[in-house]
Amino acid sequence: MQVSYFLLKKSDKISKSVIPVLALLCFLFVFSSCEGQEGNKSAIYTYQNGDPNGTGKWYMGREIAYVMGFQGMYWLNRPEREAEENTSTLIRNMQIKKGEVIADIGAGSGYHVFKMATLVPDGLVYAVDIQEEMLAAIRKRKEQEGIGNIRLIQGTEQSSELPENTIDKVLMVDVYHEFTYPMEMMASIKKALRPGGSVYLIEYRGEDPSVPIKILHKMTEQQAVKEMAAAGMVLVENIKNLPWQHCMVFKVK
Ligand SMILES: C[S@@+](CC[C@H](N)C(=O)[O-])C[C@H]1O[C@@H](n2cnc3c(N)ncnc32)[C@H](O)[C@@H]1O
Repeated sequence: MQVSYFLLKKSDKISKSVIPVLALLCFLFVFSSCEGQEGNKSAIYTYQNGDPNGTGKWYMGREIAYVMGFQGMYWLNRPEREAEENTSTLIRNMQIKKGEVIADIGAGSGYHVFKMATLVPDGLVYAVDIQEEMLAAIRKRKEQEGIGNIRLIQGTEQSSELPENTIDKVLMVDVYHEFTYPMEMMASIKKALRPGGSVYLIEYRGEDPSVPIKILHKMTEQQAVKEMAAAGMVLVENIKNLPWQHCMVFKVK
């Protein structure tokens, strides 16, 4: 009969051979206690294999994508982008008014930042990114062109580092799905909004297989609404006039 390593009877003598088993049991006990302490955190983020190109980190049923490296800057600046994404229409959708303060979170090389800055000569555009190389590209162009109403902020994975209660409109283009800490980022963005402020969440349409973008870099409206609701935001409108993207406008509930 095979002897069970796990069930020790009172009559069993503790021999040297069971010491490794006891050590293993102690390890398993300590490990499971640690997991219990992580319990609250793992209720927000979970970890499991998903898409081969994914991070393996999940939030509200969605696998978070990797952050696009600054090496991909050429793709953000590609000449065919206007035709593919109709970026002029996106900017018009924002109904930017003179004097407004706007924040582009995940500004990248500043593709939208410079377009918006010309619309608010007496206002301000914050360009927020976590990669210094992206901010350096914006800084270079801003200095070359002598633009005074763009302010650069190096954020962190968990905070936009924007000043509280200062922003009229937040723009996030193709970035939310790659936030490593979406819940914390949205909390900091919400704090930065002025009363009545809006968030323009632009994501490639996950419902539309004809949009030629990898699945992890797309989002459905349903998923976005669910995640924004968790952040205390409500969908006001999804403006359906962009070729590839959702243009979802959210406000604080
Ligand atoms: C795909 S690019 C899009 C850039 C720009 N929005 C555009 O459409 O041209 C995403 C950018 O978001 C930045 N990013 C990722 N996570 C971020 C975070 N938590 N806070 C600020 N920027 C972030 C990346 O560094 C990258 O520059």
